[in-house]
Amino acid sequence: MPAGVDNLERLEEEACREIAAAASLQALTEVRARYLGKKGSVAEVLRGIGDLAGDQRARIGQLANSAKRRIEMVVSERRRALERGQRDRTLGAERLDITLPGAEEPRAGHLHPVTRVFRDMVEFFTSMGFSIEEGPEVETEYHSFEALNIPKLHPARDEQDTFYVEGGNALRPHTSNVQIRTMTGRTPPFRFIAPGRVYRHDLSPRHYPMFHQIEGFLVDERVTFADLKGVLHAFGRHLMSDDIELRFRANHFPFTEPSAEMDYGCLLCERKGCGICSNSGWIEWGGCGMIHPQVLENCGIDPDRYQGFAFGMGVDRTALLRYGIPDIRLLFEGDLRVLEQV
Ligand code: DAH
Repeated sequence: MPAGVDNLERLEEEACREIAAAASLQALTEVRARYLGKKGSVAEVLRGIGDLAGDQRARIGQLANSAKRRIEMVVSERRRALERGQRDRTLGAERLDITLPGAEEPRAGHLHPVTRVFRDMVEFFTSMGFSIEEGPEVETEYHSFEALNIPKLHPARDEQDTFYVEGGNALRPHTSNVQIRTMTGRTPPFRFIAPGRVYRHDLSPRHYPMFHQIEGFLVDERVTFADLKGVLHAFGRHLMSDDIELRFRANHFPFTEPSAEMDYGCLLCERKGCGICSNSGWIEWGGCGMIHPQVLENCGIDPDRYQGFAFGMGVDRTALLRYGIPDIRLLFEGDLRVLEQV
C-alpha cells in the first residue's frame, strides 16, 4: 500500500474515532496497539516511506511522526478520562455514610478482676477508718527483712525465693515493708492498709512470680488479738459472705508474736471438702499476729506503751475464687478471651 498524505489523514481520523469509542482501559490499550504498536498502521506507513522519492519521503515522514504524536496525545487524554471515570465509580460505590449507626455495639472494657477485688477490700478498710499507704517495689533489705526481725539466714532471704537487684536491694517479697516505712518517725495511733504488688521466685497454677497482697496494721494503747479477729471477721463478711467462718492456726512469723495463719471455711462445699479447698474444707487466707515488740522498737515506738496487730494476705486467690478462674497465670497473661468472660 503506497503511503500517502490521504492515507495518513484517514488513519489519524479513524484512530481518533476509535479512541473516543474505547469504553475501557483494556479496549484503549488495544486501539493504541493497533495504530502505534510495532506492527501497527502508523509503523506500516513509516516502513513504506523507504520506497518514496527523497523530498516526498521527508514530508510523509514528518506527517507520519506528527500523526503519531497526535494519536499518542488523544490516547493519553482518553486514558485519563477513563481512569477518572473508574475512580469516580469506585468512590461512589465505596461511599460511607458516617451518620449511620454502627452495626455492632461499641464494646466497653472493664476493670481487671484483681483491681475489682482490691477496690472492694480498700472500700471496706477505708469505711473502718484505715488510711492507705504505699511503699516501693524495689526495696532495701533493711525494710523488707532486717527491721521486720527476719534474720540473715532466714529462707525468705535466699536467692531461691527473692529477686535481688543490684546494690543489695530486692523486689519486695511482701507488703510488710510498708509497716516499717509508715511507722518509723510517727507516733501512734495508726490504722493503715497497704495494697500492692509483691514478687517471689515461684510459678505454678497457684503461684505467679508477681502477685498482690494487702497488708493491714493497727497500733494503739490497748489493742488485743480479739480486735484483730473482730476486724478480720468483719472483713471476711464484707468480702465473701455473711456466713463466713474463720479459723486461726498457731504459726510463726518473725515480725509478730503471737502469730497465726488464718483460713476461711470453703463456701463452695460448705466445709464438706471439694476440689477448690483440696478436700480440707478450709482455704488459706493469710498471716496475722500481734506486732513483735522489737519491730515497734525498730520503728522508734515504745512497746511498753503501744501494741498493735498486723495481717497480710494474697489478693489474687480471692479473685480466682470469686470469678471461678482455675489458674493464676490466666490472670496476668492479658488474654482477652479469658478476661472478657469475667
Ligand atoms: N508477710 C507475710 C507473707 O508475705 C504475711 C504476713 C503475716 C503479714 C503476718 C503480716 C503478718 O503483717 O502480721 O507471707
